[in-house]
Amino acid sequence: MKALVYEGPKSVSVKDVPDATIEKPTDVLVRITTTNICGSDLHMYEGRTGLESGKILGHENMGEVVEVGDGVDRVRVGDQVSLPFNIGCGFCENCERGNTGFCLTVNPGTAGGAYGFYGMGPYAGGQAELLRVPYADFNCLVLPEDAQDKQNDYTMLSDIFPTGWHATELAGMRPGESVVVYGGGPVGIMAAYSAVIRGASQVFVVDRHPDRLKLAERAGATPIDDSQGDPAQQVLDLTDGRGADRGCECVGYQAHDAQGNENPSMTLNSLFQAVRPTGKIGVVGLFLPGDPGAPSEDAKIGRYPLDYGTTWFKGQGIGNGQANVKNYNRQLAQLIHQGKAAPSFIVSHELSLDQAPEAYESFDERLQGWTKVLLKPAA
Ligand SMILES: NC(=O)c1ccc[n+]([C@@H]2O[C@H](COP(=O)([O-])OP(=O)(O)OC[C@H]3O[C@@H](n4cnc5c(N)ncnc54)[C@H](O)[C@@H]3O)[C@@H](O)[C@H]2O)c1
Ligand SMILES: [Zn+2]
Ligand SMILES: [Zn+2]
Repeated sequence: MKALVYEGPKSVSVKDVPDATIEKPTDVLVRITTTNICGSDLHMYEGRTGLESGKILGHENMGEVVEVGDGVDRVRVGDQVSLPFNIGCGFCENCERGNTGFCLTVNPGTAGGAYGFYGMGPYAGGQAELLRVPYADFNCLVLPEDAQDKQNDYTMLSDIFPTGWHATELAGMRPGESVVVYGGGPVGIMAAYSAVIRGASQVFVVDRHPDRLKLAERAGATPIDDSQGDPAQQVLDLTDGRGADRGCECVGYQAHDAQGNENPSMTLNSLFQAVRPTGKIGVVGLFLPGDPGAPSEDAKIGRYPLDYGTTWFKGQGIGNGQANVKNYNRQLAQLIHQGKAAPSFIVSHELSLDQAPEAYESFDERLQGWTKVLLKPAA
């Protein structure tokens, strides 16, 4: 099969590799119809993780089931499925509690497994023609009959729509509240969109790329351009000096200013200012215990200077981590099915697998107009 393989910093290529196969009776094999490039892939692409070369990337996968293992009961050949980027077993303590992003079975020695991801187990990614799906009865979301027609909406269910929703959930958002989102990438736009759907009274998105700020407006949010002045001050000015009720961090450890100077603490420290006392902040932007390419010794081991006194004094709460996609994907699929949500408005490119290397380069540069890339290996 053809697959997109990581070779080293800023180097990926499409190669012929052995076909993915059923390895355990509980697996299914999926022929990938749509697989997206994510900001999480870019941390790996830029060599800012310890990812080994040879890994097939791709954790935002959907497709058609083409083979089922003997131990699979529910999922059938021909089903159109969305696959949460986290792989869960369904029976460990964390999965039982709904914390499927922290499964204790699939990646022994740590909590959490995923396809095509650094530090998340041996699983190949789905930027390929075929994908092996472990514990398939648990992990496959079988899509309704409009799966093909609304493919570009449903493809957001494997990661960024649930992840954006999770950011608002970690922030404890309630209807009528105001929410500020840092990061106008796909995840930040989905957080803003989720906040709007959940009945926020005001939503702000902080970024500096005009195309991304435009999408924030399309999601129903007020764009805040941080190249035009301190973003926290802009939020305070727009909330009568109170600050937003809730904050979402959707940037991660490669946060930088509008001139490109990197500072992994800057979004959190700014959120501590922009969110009101006793407000909560949901952090879904990626932070890792190790960052070989970090600019400082502390950052190399995931140690970041935070204004802890400020957030403590304001009594703010912080929620962290990978989104437990399975907590949300079934319900969000219904919003799509019933026409209440259409997250495909962020899609800028639909490309073949062969075009993936150029797509990585352009999306990584955050080139104007490259807001979300879908790859279509089966096309
Ligand atoms: N927790 C999870 O489960 C989960 C899931 C998916 C993605 N992620 C993470 O979410 C983050 C965002 O993903 P994405 O696909 O939207 O990535 P992206 O890189 O496309 O978007 C990030 C955006 O942040 C903006 N930005 C950079 N520095 C900023 C700053 N100081 N203030 C405001 N905006 C700033 C950039 O201009 C960019 O538009 C990544 O770290 C990704 O790894 C986490
Ligand atoms: Zn992703
Ligand atoms: Zn588990």
